[in-house]
Amino acid sequence: MTQYQSFPGVKGASESLAKLRSLRLPSLQGKRFLDVGCNEGFFCGYARFDGASEVVGIDKSKVAVGRAQARFPDCQFFAQSWEQLPAGQFDVILLASALHYAEDQAALVHRLMNALTDDGTLVLEVGLAASARSEWVSVKRSIDERLFPSRGKLAEILENYAWKIIGYSVQQAGDPLTRYTVHVRRQKPFVFLLLEPPGSGKTTLCRTLFAVAKVPVVSGDLTYRQLSDGRIAASDALVAAISSDFSPQYDRVAEKVLAQGLANDLVEVWCGRGGEGAFAIDSYVPEKYQEQIEDAFRARGYVPVTLNWDMQRSMSAPNEAEKKANSYVETLVDWATETQASILRVTKIRSPALARILSGWHLDHPVNGQVVTDDEQFTVAGWGLAHDMGATDLQCYVRTATGTDVFKLDRRWQDAVKARFKDQVDVPEKLLHCGFRFARNKSELVPKIKFGFVANGEEIPVARFGLAETPGDQPSLSRRLLSKVGASVWRRR
Ligand SMILES: C[S@@+](CC[C@H](N)C(=O)[O-])C[C@H]1O[C@@H](n2cnc3c(N)ncnc32)[C@H](O)[C@@H]1O
Repeated sequence: MTQYQSFPGVKGASESLAKLRSLRLPSLQGKRFLDVGCNEGFFCGYARFDGASEVVGIDKSKVAVGRAQARFPDCQFFAQSWEQLPAGQFDVILLASALHYAEDQAALVHRLMNALTDDGTLVLEVGLAASARSEWVSVKRSIDERLFPSRGKLAEILENYAWKIIGYSVQQAGDPLTRYTVHVRRQKPFVFLLLEPPGSGKTTLCRTLFAVAKVPVVSGDLTYRQLSDGRIAASDALVAAISSDFSPQYDRVAEKVLAQGLANDLVEVWCGRGGEGAFAIDSYVPEKYQEQIEDAFRARGYVPVTLNWDMQRSMSAPNEAEKKANSYVETLVDWATETQASILRVTKIRSPALARILSGWHLDHPVNGQVVTDDEQFTVAGWGLAHDMGATDLQCYVRTATGTDVFKLDRRWQDAVKARFKDQVDVPEKLLHCGFRFARNKSELVPKIKFGFVANGEEIPVARFGLAETPGDQPSLSRRLLSKVGASVWRRR
């Protein structure tokens, strides 16, 4: 057997050390390594040196295998053809300067790929024929004539794998081909993870990128909705987490699901919807759970590619929005108490004499509890009727700090009359005019405006109008605000 590999002290036809450099082997620490056509075991020895947990070399030459075993007793060598590979999966398999010896080169490559672990690498060191076509080219060498693949043919053989030409390998004397190192791995589907918060542009990115590239997109929102409707099968725990108190605020749903440790269940559903190959996920995942999601995809054979970008969001986080709204209302309460002097305060007086008449009135403008500006007037409108069909002389009075105005009820207020005397057709015209309306300036509200009826000369007080004086005396504004935002807190000062 001619000396092929070079060791210190013995030079072979191949520059083994230079070849080793060009192979760019991954770290072999703790790995299972197989060298196919290992010759005298140069690369097996290196694998041992680099910390491989198990090193196996096969070669059809008994002499080569005998020498290899003598050189590296810690490695296992078998004198056998590559038609039959050693049992088990290997993390790294090397086939250097040997593919052209195979009867069916493509079949050998596929056989080696099948012997790789999921994340394993096949390192090929091959000569490629110079041809622009995809073909096998018969090449005359100094020692023999063999078929070598063109680059296109190699691409054809490797089309279902992920592969890369790493660079040139060492040239060998008398060899008319350029040699290359090629790394080949199982092709795993990519999953593109768009996990940014809502309002970050995920869906736009999907529309403008993945849809154009025909990469299917799984919408997280739609998945949650269909899970809540029972339209997709999933684990009981996931369905329960999504369905209980479901609301289409999907960032809240995501928080809830992931806080319950259901990342794996969720990924299971996503994978079911993603199809066979690569797909993208458009679904918010809080940062602290993103690694769990990536791991769950890895465990299912995907290569997760998480896309991160920095963009001004159109909305705040759900808890943050609620917290701010609540504390804003509390601040409004504080502000309201600071602006008490400008808030209209109405106090109704329940005087027993009021029972002697029928009446109704309301603040036309502004409403009770409203902030009143200096140049605003407040107006009151209403009506009054005595039970005795007009025998009583009924008037209104408004008393301010500067005096009392007594005025007639002279506005036509037919509705009130009809309601009272609905069976009587001939209601005297005088009674139809039972309404009143008066307007006062804000400045008159201090100290207070008193309003009431005068029946046959006797005053019947109805209400006092003023400005709220003491903090806490005017809680209606705050209450209204609180109830409007649905805030559960009411801080009484
Ligand atoms: C050119 S040498 C390359 C040796 C080594 N891989 C290197 O690069 O230094 C080719 C090797 O392949 C081996 N070989 C050829 N046909 C084989 C087969 N069918 N099964 C196993 N080994 C084979 C030869 O015995 C020889 O040792």
